[in-house]
Amino acid sequence: MTDVSDTVAFDIADRIAWVRFNRPDKRNCMSPTLNRRMMEVLHELEFRDDVGVLVLSGEGTSWSAGMDLKEYFRETEAKGLGAVRQAQREAYGWWRRLRWYQKPTIAMVNGWCFGGGYGPLYACDLAVAADEAKFALSEINWGILPGGGATKVVSELVPMRDAMYHALTGETIDGKKASQWRLVNESVPLDRLQERVTEIAKILLEKNPVALKATKDAIRRVREMTYENAEDYLVRAQEAANSYDNEGRKEGIRQFIDEKSYKPGLGAYDLSRKR
Ligand code: COA
Repeated sequence: MTDVSDTVAFDIADRIAWVRFNRPDKRNCMSPTLNRRMMEVLHELEFRDDVGVLVLSGEGTSWSAGMDLKEYFRETEAKGLGAVRQAQREAYGWWRRLRWYQKPTIAMVNGWCFGGGYGPLYACDLAVAADEAKFALSEINWGILPGGGATKVVSELVPMRDAMYHALTGETIDGKKASQWRLVNESVPLDRLQERVTEIAKILLEKNPVALKATKDAIRRVREMTYENAEDYLVRAQEAANSYDNEGRKEGIRQFIDEKSYKPGLGAYDLSRKR
């Protein structure tokens, strides 16, 4: 049972942590209380052995309606600059924690996704939306620029003309369009959303977890590097990964070359038979 008084809900099943924004009455907009609670939940789940993948979704009809205009903006601003900066640190802090999370993460966008919601959307490694979900940079509609990283997120993910149209008009797009624009990996009908996300999570759960973390970080890091720097970074990142798991890749080679029990081109080696 979901505790309605908690701004973040979560369950763990079959090594998937299902974390949910839990303010459905407020369309899961992010208040300072929710932001603090989300950091605690992420902290609690990050290094648990019974968690291999984290999925972020929302209770009710919304994924997240962005920042809480009352609690995050109006009431915080009324307390002065120190409070504003603290609220920003708390929000940006958990998004950053999620961007570099130890486990792979999937945004399961079940409904509304607005403005500040683009921060955690981008922070998740993968994103799957319901066809019916609605996305918008709605900031322009209430008179500000898309802050909190939202402008950066659309500029990173969406071609310039679409990003500009999205930010200047504040019009909503549905999950299908969000997928065409590459804001998300794909969209499926809402009634298939959880099933599809579970399928993807299961694929990730079969992979070497040290390699997953090294790979997700590498994809984000190399975007800002020259080719030469990326080449060097990737050599060193693999060598650093070897200090956490020096046997996995050897076992992967052994099961293919000696045992012929799987083909790396077609799937993952059997992790359970670690030597
Ligand atoms: N900040 C503060 N409160 C919000 C909110 C937000 N971002 N989004 C929704 N709420 C509150 C509403 O004020 C309302 O509160 P009330 O029941 O106390 O009156 C409640 O959540 C339900 O919202 P409502 O507008 O009635 O729901 P809806 O399903 O008809 O519409 C939205 C959903 C998401 C389209 C609409 O709530 C909305 O436009 N929200 C703001 C989105 C936004 O611009 N976010 C960007 C912030 S950076």
